[in-house]
Amino acid sequence: MKLLIVGTGYVGTTTGLVFAEMGHQVTGLDVDTQKIQSLQAGNLHFYEPGLDELLRKHVKNETITFTDNIKKAIEMNDVIFICVGTPKEENGSADLSYVKNVAQDIGRYMNRSKVIVTKSTVPVGTAELVTEWIKTSQLQSVPFAVVSNPEFLREGSALADALKPDRIVIGSTSDTARRIMRELYDNFQCPIIETNPKASEMIKYAANSFLALKISFINELARLCDKLEININDVAQGMGLDHRIGPHFFRAGLGYGGSCFPKDVNALLHTAEATGSPLTILESVVQVNTEQPLYLLNKLKQALGGNLQEKTIAVLGLAFKANTDDTRESASIKIIEALINEQANVKVHDPVVKWSGSSAGCHQFKTVADTVSGTDAVMICTDWDEYRELDWSKLKPLVKQPYLFDGRNMVDKEHVAKMGFYYTGVANH
Ligand code: UDX
Repeated sequence: MKLLIVGTGYVGTTTGLVFAEMGHQVTGLDVDTQKIQSLQAGNLHFYEPGLDELLRKHVKNETITFTDNIKKAIEMNDVIFICVGTPKEENGSADLSYVKNVAQDIGRYMNRSKVIVTKSTVPVGTAELVTEWIKTSQLQSVPFAVVSNPEFLREGSALADALKPDRIVIGSTSDTARRIMRELYDNFQCPIIETNPKASEMIKYAANSFLALKISFINELARLCDKLEININDVAQGMGLDHRIGPHFFRAGLGYGGSCFPKDVNALLHTAEATGSPLTILESVVQVNTEQPLYLLNKLKQALGGNLQEKTIAVLGLAFKANTDDTRESASIKIIEALINEQANVKVHDPVVKWSGSSAGCHQFKTVADTVSGTDAVMICTDWDEYRELDWSKLKPLVKQPYLFDGRNMVDKEHVAKMGFYYTGVANH
């Protein structure tokens, strides 16, 4: 099939490459000419393991091409995936202006019958809006169908997630569109759920919100376990082995970040409020998550005598999680900002991300050794494997005070204690 992917960010690029890998002919469209040129040259504009190789392969084979020619791209393709961003508005709702622009372009340039698929995470009712936007911008009446087909991939494992999804959700009222979508996903070995568009849109928000809820649950429970001197990892394991609960998204730490969970939870809360049917559980999820990075930071502050002025703190990790260069809503950034506010000197390290903040109180170093050197405390904020494998015996002589705060419960606490560090994790007793 000839597919058009509109928006070449994480979701769009991964989706396009996965479909190319499945034997379809794919065009990637973006208004950002620089992005298009870079992709067409085989250069990925973000860090995602494995995706760059796939890009080079399909650019070389010409199974994927990139363009900024909107009219031609729409005319030439039969199935159009909308993968543009839906950023958070100030009131928490999703900003649909990019989706609207694309829908209007599709209407304007539609030359024959097409299936339009929303992959971006969009609020309930958006498929109806997209239908309306296309209809009102059509210059001639051409039949089309709109499908909601949310993407569940995670940054850092985008390729594996998109190639082997747990399920595929197809939300449409058109039999023809559903048939085309089933054909498109023919090679995927997973259940396909067919619903109406509204249920499909809700599935995406509800799934992300539920995962966020699991994380906030374990984080709040960790605070209680901390007081009772119980190891939260043992509790999570004991709970997670109950197959009704499951072990995933049950790691206590600094709270969830990234481009999806915070935005999607807020958007669902906004929908709930606007509908007059509040989701009070989800309100608490947000509250716990807002507090969580500061929970460990307060422990650090107490350990250093309640005042961080003139203290030097090493922060290991800037990305919101390992294997990505994304710092959106990263707990690490919140911690650095709080440290700067407390007038601490901050030394940061990340294997991939470059610190872009302008504060004179924060500097990035190339090696962990240089970062921890002369510091009063070290805080691990991102779960990079590199930090799991650190030789703490070599770092101990470099630090000024041997306080280690493990925001990811990822270090062998007995080992680091033997090396002379005072270890504090998140209820990692
Ligand atoms: C998420 C969803 O998982 C994905 O299905 C959706 O399509 C997009 O949003 P992503 O934001 O890439 O993916 O990251 P994810 O791996 O889900 O992690 C989100 C945040 O939760 C990270 O900050 C991570 O560190 C944190 N997390 C995750 C925990 O704190 N504990 C856990 O047990 C799991």
